[in-house]
Amino acid sequence: MPQTIIAGIGHYVPDHVVTNNDLVKYMDTSDEWIQERTGIKERRYAGRTTETTSTMGVQAATIALENAGITKDDVDFIIFATLSPDYYFPGCGVLLQRAMKMNEIGALDIRNQCSGFVYALSVADQFIKTGMYKNILLVCSEKHSFGLDFSTRGRNISVIFGDGAAAVVLQPTTENNRGILSTHLHSDGSSAELLAMFNPGTHANHWLNEPLADFDEAPMGQMFMSHQMIDKAQNFPNMDGPAVFKKAIVKFPEVIEEALQKNNLTTADLQLLIPHQANLRIAQYVQQKLKLRDDQVFNNIEKYGNTTAASIPIALSEAWQLGKIKKGDLICMAAFGSGFTWGSALMRW
Ligand code: COA
Repeated sequence: MPQTIIAGIGHYVPDHVVTNNDLVKYMDTSDEWIQERTGIKERRYAGRTTETTSTMGVQAATIALENAGITKDDVDFIIFATLSPDYYFPGCGVLLQRAMKMNEIGALDIRNQCSGFVYALSVADQFIKTGMYKNILLVCSEKHSFGLDFSTRGRNISVIFGDGAAAVVLQPTTENNRGILSTHLHSDGSSAELLAMFNPGTHANHWLNEPLADFDEAPMGQMFMSHQMIDKAQNFPNMDGPAVFKKAIVKFPEVIEEALQKNNLTTADLQLLIPHQANLRIAQYVQQKLKLRDDQVFNNIEKYGNTTAASIPIALSEAWQLGKIKKGDLICMAAFGSGFTWGSALMRW
């Protein structure tokens, strides 16, 4: 059975840099608070009308294809992971297919939030291993800046997130001991509401202890999204930060250990861990817990914030560009996020 390799990689971040001090214009926060709690110094925001999640994805995909030495016509399947799509539906996969004038190939959308890249990678790995596809274009992109509450009410979330995109081209190899060794996916929906955006949606308070809006009295046609919901900021993400933090620092090390054990390897074998860039303090905790040296972990959250599905591939692409990844290196990628979902992928570059 072939193994899946990353044959090409690229990332794109918008030019517009937004520092922590820039956010002080909108909300009661400070550079000191943000850096101390999250390690973030700045993030990028997409052009308000000039860039979308899909167009940033196209930028990253173009670089990844060039890096792989193939053209858009060689691609036989598209996977697009995002939580901030251009439209509620259809997904970004088809918008990318259209924008890049690609063949009428399949386009799958993945919505596993911060775990999006690891989930997508796992799906792609199965398609490659079975021989179904030979050139999968996996794109992750987020335009968070359009969907955050920039008032003080939303400051625990809005300071964390940033915009950006990354893409990889996945191909089969028969070279021994190369490529994805294993992927490990998990979920626990018991805390789904701790990091969620409720509206637009069809939930009608069904899962919630406290009703969000009055669905009994709402006129037909105003239940998916209403003025009341907007007035109550329910069109923005909602997060219990401390609860997410507590769960993340347990699940990250667990799923990294799971991947290593599955392959009879240990942390000493690892050249690089690329954790989802949720919060630098989480990454530092995981590093400490697994007793990893500084050169075994790559973080870039200080420059880009949390770019959700795009965070691991942006970091992977940047680490590769910086020469921190060589052929044969053992790389672990691990994610945790809304759902909760979490996962890891272990690969030999
Ligand atoms: N600036 C200034 N003060 C802020 C703030 C901001 N941006 N955001 C929240 N605060 C305030 C709160 O209002 C609270 O004030 P109070 O004590 O007067 O009520 C205080 O800071 C502490 O809030 P808390 O939420 O307990 O802070 P925290 O230490 O847990 O840090 C997070 C908040 C969000 C940084 C942290 O919980 C976290 O990173 N959690 C994980 C989030 C994550 O990774 N999400 C993505 C998952 S993929």
